[in-house]
Amino acid sequence: MAQWNMGDDLSEILLRPEDLGPKIKELGAAISRDYQGKDLLLVGVLKGAVIFLSDLLREITIPVSIDFMAVSSYGAATKTSGIVRILKDLDESIEGRHVLVVEDIVDTGLTLHYMLDNLASRRPASVKVCALLDKPDRRQVAVPVDYIGFHIPDRFVVGYGLDYAEKYRNLPYIGVLRPDRI
Ligand code: IMP
Ligand code: MG
Repeated sequence: MAQWNMGDDLSEILLRPEDLGPKIKELGAAISRDYQGKDLLLVGVLKGAVIFLSDLLREITIPVSIDFMAVSSYGAATKTSGIVRILKDLDESIEGRHVLVVEDIVDTGLTLHYMLDNLASRRPASVKVCALLDKPDRRQVAVPVDYIGFHIPDRFVVGYGLDYAEKYRNLPYIGVLRPDRI
């Protein structure tokens, strides 16, 4: 086993590999059942969802394609307006396809709200959302999340794809970042 040297930066481990694995298996099974016979496209939201998407993908037992979008919120002042900039758009058209947006975490919901609007305008057959983590206490705008891994309290978490200042994505678990590290 490799060693991770960021343990001191975390106050608590919330979700271990043995918690994540079975839940992702469950999500993959549900998605495989629900999308049986449909043209399923997973849209991963870069970069945080990369690890979740790659594990989820391998638990899906029906034909499936993947594509990615990268988005960024404008500065803090405009964040509440929900204006989001597309840094990288999809490679393919989604017209007539069943799109499942794969997110690491839904926090205020603003990013997802914008993305869902934007994707809906491209005339897909359907758009649904699968998020590994949900912080419901922080929600500013209601967004439908169809598949949820775990509800977590309002703490800043890192690991398993989630970052703080681009660090900690490589941790194989999800932990709470110590407030004095932020
Ligand atoms: P929202 O628009 O506030 O829902 O933003 C969601 C995005 O903020 C996520 O995709 C993450 O990139 C980031 N984010 C929100 N909460 C956390 C956290 O606790 N740790 C790391 N990133 C977070
Ligand atoms: Mg994200």
